[in-house]
Formats: sequence, structure tokens, C-alpha cells
Amino acid sequence: MQRLSLTRPDDWHLHLRDGAVLHDAVPHSARQFARAAIMPNLQPPVTTVADALGYRARILAALPAGLAFEPLMVLYLTDGTAVEEIRRAAEEPRVLGWKLYPAGATTHSAAGVRDLARLYPVLAAMERHGVPLLVHGEVADPGVDIFDREKVFVDRHLSPMVAHFPELRIVLEHVTTREGVQFVWDSGPRIAATLTAHHLLYNRNALLAGGVRPHFYCLPVLKREHHRQALLEAATSGNPKFFLGTDSAPHPRRQKESAVGCAGCYTAPAALELYAAAFEAAGALDRLEAFASFHGADFYGLPRNRERIVMERRPWSVPERLPFGDQEAIPLLAGQTLEWRCAGMA
Ligand code: DOR
Ligand code: ZN
Repeated sequence: MQRLSLTRPDDWHLHLRDGAVLHDAVPHSARQFARAAIMPNLQPPVTTVADALGYRARILAALPAGLAFEPLMVLYLTDGTAVEEIRRAAEEPRVLGWKLYPAGATTHSAAGVRDLARLYPVLAAMERHGVPLLVHGEVADPGVDIFDREKVFVDRHLSPMVAHFPELRIVLEHVTTREGVQFVWDSGPRIAATLTAHHLLYNRNALLAGGVRPHFYCLPVLKREHHRQALLEAATSGNPKFFLGTDSAPHPRRQKESAVGCAGCYTAPAALELYAAAFEAAGALDRLEAFASFHGADFYGLPRNRERIVMERRPWSVPERLPFGDQEAIPLLAGQTLEWRCAGMA
């Protein structure tokens, strides 16, 4: 196959950051995706509908002329989130849902939730109002090995939560383990998961074998090969509970290539191309469209996109570096060749 035409996809998990870097980050996503779920872990985090609409306006101001791109805002849950704010968010179509960051689990999660039990009245309000919950599914417990943090979160927190709130729609974001995939698979239709391209393509050797490669460091961290195989099976299965969410998370180069490097892979500059590589390697390019363009919209009860996007087999090199405000950011696979290339809208 040399050419692929698919319904324009959506990115159901994206970090765009804020300020001057928006002009560098937004165009990459907007060239490929019609809509994106915009993560709220700014500093300070996006905790109210008013904050989210302000942030959305700044994103749209950074959108190049002629590109249609709809940011769907995700709000940040804290120990202080008010039930009244949940109701307000439910009435705002530009807000997609709320994100649960266990405090300390990842980048800019310090203001996240410390005590999940105390969040239950807020989750009850979300269930009542039909607002989805997006979950960073890792415990922050320093006593738990970093490679086990997703599995422990699923057992300790997600499983009881799903049982307690039978109507709450939950997305296990960037699922990385066989156990996480199995949990989603075994749960009802209101439990879904996003999958990143980097977790579909790489296991932890990419990060650690032959030298530490900081641009492969993200959270949840890359896992063993048998976990990657489970993710790939889920993504290519056609099961509508699994859909595309890049978790593209740019950081200035200096903060990645550092003694204490930040978590986050900058995949937006080649997002769809990376997914195409993963699906092609699994012999499942024909399943890419549903995963990238249908399942997420269907889960969120939004219309599927109508435009189409064309991909061609035309090897190209990922840029070595990209501007990022007054600094630079290094995209995943910088300088390496990818087979597929987005050729634009059909
Ligand atoms: O690798 C990650 N980077 N994981 C996250 O959960 C957050 C993200 C970021 O914001 O940099
Ligand atoms: Zn993320």
C-alpha cells in the first residue's frame, strides 16, 4: 500500500503548554487532528471553566490561518474542586471532562488529588451530570516500584472506583500495561483507554539499553515487551474502547537532557506517522482509521469528523530540533526516517 486516505483523526490526550510556545506547539497538532483533548497541567493548573476558556482562547490565537482545529478542554481535579464547578463544566460544550492526577504522580501534578476517598462526592456529581473522568492511572506511592505503579493504581483505586460509580465514564489515559489493558477490556462500555504511539512502538530498552535516552522518558514509563504486545493487540483489535491519545508533551531541550530530566515525549510533529508505523508493523494499517478517527468520538458522544486526510509512503526525516519559544524542543525520533508522511487534507 502506498497511499492511505482516512477520516481526519482526533487526539484525545495532548499537552500544548502555554505562552509563547503555543505558536510552536499548536500547528503540529492542528495540521493532522481536527480536535484534541487539551491537558490542564499548566502552572498553575486549569481548575475552573473560566480558566479553561481563557486557555482555549490563547490556543486558538496561536492557530495558523486556514487550519480548523477544535481544542476540547480538560479541567484539573484538586482536593478542593467544588461540586458546583462540575455542574458548570457539564453545561459547557467546550469542556470535555476532568482529569485526575494523583498528587506527585507526574509533571505538574503537585496540585492534584491527595486523598481519593475525599473526591467521591465530586465523582458522584460527575456521574450525575454525565461528565467523563480522565485518569492518570499511576500511584505516587514512593514505596511502589515505578514499573508497577499502573497495575497498583488499577487494583487499589480504579477497580473500586468503577464498581462504586456504575454510570461514570472513565478513560484510563495512556495505558501501558497488559493488566491495564485487561482491566479495560473486561469492564463495561463506559470504561475506555487511550494509547500513545510511543508506548505502541517502544519498550523500556529504547529508554535504557546502550545509554539513557531522555527523549524516550515519559510517565507512565515505557514497560517490558510483553506489555507493548498487549497494547498493540488492543489498539489493532477493533475494540472501540481503545483510541488514539498521543500524550505529546514537549519540554525545552535543556530540561530533558539534564541530570533530572522531565517526563514527556514530543510526538506531535510526527504523530499520525508514528501510529502508522506501529499499525503497519502489526499488519493492521486497515484498522488505523477506526482507532484514530472513530472510537474516541463515539465514546465521547461527539460526531465523527467529515474531512479526510491523506497519508503517503514517502520516507522523510523527523527534524533534528524544533523551535520552542525562545528555546528548542527535540521531537521523538529526531533525525530518523519514517516511512509514512501526512500529505494533507483530501
Ligand atoms: O510523560 C508525561 N509528560 N506524562 C505525564 O503524565 C505528563 C506529561 C507532561 O505534562 O510533561
Ligand atoms: Zn499526559
